[in-house]
Amino acid sequence: MKLTILKETSPGETRVAATPESVKKLVGLGHTVTIESGAGTVAGFPDKAFSDEGATIAKTAATALKGADVLLKVRGPSAAEAAKYPEGLTVIALMNPFAMGDVTDALNAKKLNALAMEFTPRITRAQSMDALSSQSNLAGYRAMIEGAQIYGRAMPMMMTAAGTVAPAKVFVMGAGVAGLQAIATARRLGGVVTATDVRPAAKEQVASLGAKFIAVENDEFKEAETAGGYAKEMSDDYKKQQAELTAAHIAKQDIVITTALIPGRPAPVLVNEDMVKSMRPGSVIVDMAVAAGGNCPLSKPDEVVDVNGVKIAGFSNLPARLPADSSSLYAKNLLAFLPLITAEDGALNLDTDDEIVTAMLLTRGGETVNERLKS
Ligand code: NAI
Repeated sequence: MKLTILKETSPGETRVAATPESVKKLVGLGHTVTIESGAGTVAGFPDKAFSDEGATIAKTAATALKGADVLLKVRGPSAAEAAKYPEGLTVIALMNPFAMGDVTDALNAKKLNALAMEFTPRITRAQSMDALSSQSNLAGYRAMIEGAQIYGRAMPMMMTAAGTVAPAKVFVMGAGVAGLQAIATARRLGGVVTATDVRPAAKEQVASLGAKFIAVENDEFKEAETAGGYAKEMSDDYKKQQAELTAAHIAKQDIVITTALIPGRPAPVLVNEDMVKSMRPGSVIVDMAVAAGGNCPLSKPDEVVDVNGVKIAGFSNLPARLPADSSSLYAKNLLAFLPLITAEDGALNLDTDDEIVTAMLLTRGGETVNERLKS
């Protein structure tokens, strides 16, 4: 297969869909790899590092795309970009499948085969391909680091001759992949950590990281996890009980990190305006769900908002703040996935009944084929 990697065009996107290490493996498997010049520069991978491993460097995106079978990207293309791709090209990216708008028509107009990395099913065989997990893990770590940096005090307890510094109290709301990593990072930094989630499985995971679990554990909680491993949207009654339980707790926190998401739905509001106002000046909220509408209605994408001295940070793309590691893990996710669409002779093969490929394929040959997009 001829694989192409382009420079990302979304504002603030620093990641790249290949690393010199992944190129080496792809070339070793017999594929031809072309990289648009400068695609990896911001992530710390200069053109030469790629060409040393056997990639061809193309000066422009148009040259890189000539004759390509598969385009590997971090973010899905815009409609205008897709319109410029060669007909029949296969595109693998984080397509943001529930918010593609006019991109779907552009993909179909050019008969592009689009595969969304977000739709990798959560089954054991697909774990190494799961880009949502690989990127969330790094995002959770970075959210805690950003939170600690914005917080104007020390994180660990320090007993010094001049007096004692109290440890920072950290509350992580949503203990999935990102939340668990935020908890682990907060613990390493010396914070006193509590966490909440609506999925019962999270309880033990939170405890195993040395944090205290707080949640409304009623019958609805016991059934809040879908077969796919994600959370369901909770009832208004549950949300009310949850807000009552967490309100007094939030008022005492120094750093609150919110990570709660529901696939295909707006993020649930977990920290309302009154809760923000109950917090002490100098405390920090990092809203990791800001790109999905936010867990705090006051957060704004890529801004640090100040509300009576409480800083609310809304980083919309935390993995892009760790581009070398996030690119490296994403490139490995792609590397793990590619064999599923490679025939024995090394050619592209989308004619497969593999449930992973079916789950990820959005459009094919001019048609939208994914059930999750049709419903
Ligand atoms: P996510 O990014 O969709 O959501 C983040 C967290 O927010 C989840 O833990 C969710 O339960 C929580 N949440 C949603 N609504 C909430 C609310 N109203 N209040 C409090 N918390 C709320 O989820 P993520 O992190 O991608 O995955 C969730 C779980 O899926 C993981 O912890 C893991 O158990 C499982 N998983 C399984 C995999 C596999 O089997 N291959 C791979 C990755 C994750």
